Amino acid sequence: MTNLLLSLVAVSAFAFGSLAIPKSHSPLLVQTEHELDYADTKVPVILGVMSRCPDALLCESVFDHVLKKVIDRVDLSLSFIGAINATEPTFGVTCKHGPLECAGNVQELCALKYADATQFWEFLQCQNYQGRDKIGLAETALQCANTAKIDWEASGVGACTGLDGSGTASEGVQLLQESVRASQELGIKNSCTVLINGKQVCIHDGTWKQCENGHTPHDFIKQINEEYNRLNGINTDDRVIV
Ligand SMILES: *[C@@H]1O[C@H](CO)[C@@H](O)[C@H](O)[C@H]1NC(C)=O
Repeated sequence: MTNLLLSLVAVSAFAFGSLAIPKSHSPLLVQTEHELDYADTKVPVILGVMSRCPDALLCESVFDHVLKKVIDRVDLSLSFIGAINATEPTFGVTCKHGPLECAGNVQELCALKYADATQFWEFLQCQNYQGRDKIGLAETALQCANTAKIDWEASGVGACTGLDGSGTASEGVQLLQESVRASQELGIKNSCTVLINGKQVCIHDGTWKQCENGHTPHDFIKQINEEYNRLNGINTDDRVIV
């Protein structure tokens, strides 16, 4: 993106013989950057989850409200909880709610990796909306990809998941193992655990726990906006970001 902008600036500067204009004052640059004069660094948000876990579904429904306000300011990912287990034939991971949960985790990880953020989120909400006992089924994944307008083959989601939707293709299985290891390294033990910019801010495990700054959508939006402003050096005394 930045390279493209810089080359656009360079090309136009060349074309109009105005190489002396400093890049930072170029109207072209300001315009194409959507008039942002800061880096637009996204806030990493991680939900530690298991695809068939009721606590995960609850957290994800709360984040449905959160993302409506801040989807452009976050870099959202899911980190799956499970146990690496070499004797598990298909996944090499034991998932608490059974192999279909492992499959659901793979389907969600592949959508996260290859679909855009909005499509991924719609896919996830669709999976959850089918009910817990349908999550992980191939037909649920295929139907939800369709609902989320994910091009199953062209996007790469299909190859990652398995073109049949099974969640057993090697790339997706590897993503699941990496995700389970990452959760262990992050110390994520409970589904659901919410991390904002690397900091654990809340858990829902039967009930809300350790949510120092609240657990409503509004509370999460506020914390994300504060982190966003901090990461981008935005002084909220000068500029109101709501
Ligand atoms: C590892 O997987 C095997 C095969 O499914 C299973 O019998 C065993 O209980 C698993 N071990 C753990 C610690 O989950």
